[in-house]
Amino acid sequence: MESALLSRIGLAGLAVMGQNLALNIAEKGFPISVYNRTTSKVDETLDRAHREGNLPLTGHYNPRDFVLSLQRPRSVIILVKAGAPVDQTIAALSEHMESGDTIIDGGNEWYENTERRIKETADRGILYLGMGVSGGEDGARNGPSLMPGGSYQAYLNIEDIVKKVAAQVEDGPCVTYIGEGGSGNFVKMVHNGIEYGDMQLISEAYDVLKNVGGLTNSELAEIFDEWNRGELESFLVEITTDIFRVKDEQYGGELVDKILDKTGMKGTGKWTVQQAAELSIAAPTIAASLDCRYLSGLKEEREAAAEVLKGAGLKEYVGVTKTGAEKKQLIDDVRQALYASKICSYAQGMNLLRAKSFEKGWNLNLGELARIWKGGCIIRAVFLDRIKKAYQRNPNLANLVVDPEFAKEMVQREGAWRRVVKEAIGAGITTPGMCASLAYFDTYKRPRVPANLVQAQRDYFGAHTYERIDIPGAYHTEWSKLAKSNIKS
Ligand code: 6PG
Repeated sequence: MESALLSRIGLAGLAVMGQNLALNIAEKGFPISVYNRTTSKVDETLDRAHREGNLPLTGHYNPRDFVLSLQRPRSVIILVKAGAPVDQTIAALSEHMESGDTIIDGGNEWYENTERRIKETADRGILYLGMGVSGGEDGARNGPSLMPGGSYQAYLNIEDIVKKVAAQVEDGPCVTYIGEGGSGNFVKMVHNGIEYGDMQLISEAYDVLKNVGGLTNSELAEIFDEWNRGELESFLVEITTDIFRVKDEQYGGELVDKILDKTGMKGTGKWTVQQAAELSIAAPTIAASLDCRYLSGLKEEREAAAEVLKGAGLKEYVGVTKTGAEKKQLIDDVRQALYASKICSYAQGMNLLRAKSFEKGWNLNLGELARIWKGGCIIRAVFLDRIKKAYQRNPNLANLVVDPEFAKEMVQREGAWRRVVKEAIGAGITTPGMCASLAYFDTYKRPRVPANLVQAQRDYFGAHTYERIDIPGAYHTEWSKLAKSNIKS
């Protein structure tokens, strides 16, 4: 007989995300045991559980006591650094676990590692989930978006918990069983790729408004605040508003202006772009955001390049301060360009998910994925509800931009979008994400693209053959010979 003192679930790995998720679970009424290799983290968590309302949380200082403190079948969430630390934690815990127990990895793990671990743990009858967790510290504590994939039975074992712990939106908790294998990690990876795209696009909007429009940080805060009450309403726009308002308390001025322009990263955006290439899915906006992170890292090189090119006579663009109607127009155009660019970026992420789902037989429900991203996660945004509805209307939608509602919006915003990109290019301001989205849209909407010439070139130098628009079959032409004879004749 199980003792009533046993915990409903366990969590190992008490860094920021682990601690907060454990407290969230306890607060939702599920007694939880926690464990961390560095024992001070256990004490820290116990202390917080006490201070944050005597939450039902017990601390353990070795893997055995921790595992044995759980009700059967046992469920353990691990939140440690992806890669080898996950394998080490599984080894330490599974030694004390038994058939029918469940391990849930909540880290940003590469999906194939999860697939390997599903097989390895299955040998011992242990069920396994790779669960994407999004929302940062605050999300983990108060309601994240959760993306569990792997063993369905494992999901059922924790369904009551994750449904209560996840962020709640009007159409349910931000969690769903994603699918088999590493699908939960893959979906989280694409979420992060989209996150990179969103952040890049927002930074471009900022750049254009600041350096073409001459807006100050306090004006930017006002504009972003206003945007956050309309179609762009989202977590990232909201936090950007706050960022523009923060002063440099210690040295004066505004903090955003003092931050070194080098973007860090942990790798999920890069994986997204690699996967897009593997699956032949165009994801130019997400790729542009990744490239911009790489280029941002070349701070010293960029500074040196600016000097060299100045020496070579390149004129420095002097930002004009727009006023009155012109300024208003630019602000409104940038809002529209940002929105249209965002739709293209989400279209790319969704198409990548669909391609992978097809390859792996995951049967991903794109509308449901958009729904669980409506709350809790970093890319949460009002327009995800519209994406959800677009895929509900047509689960086989080829591309978001051809959903009748989004198509209308793209067309309405097209003029503004082109004006912003033109202004930016004219001023030497880079808007790679907006340009990539626009080029994606423009290419996708053209019934005929110049690929005919590329095909002719391929056939010319490599006899790769080409198809014709008028007669079926594969054709090869002796281009050089015919061209020469045509010169002669
Ligand atoms: C989330 C975030 C989270 C983390 C990213 C940041 O959904 O909560 O995506 O997982 O902030 O890993 O990624 P980079 O460090 O690569 O920007």
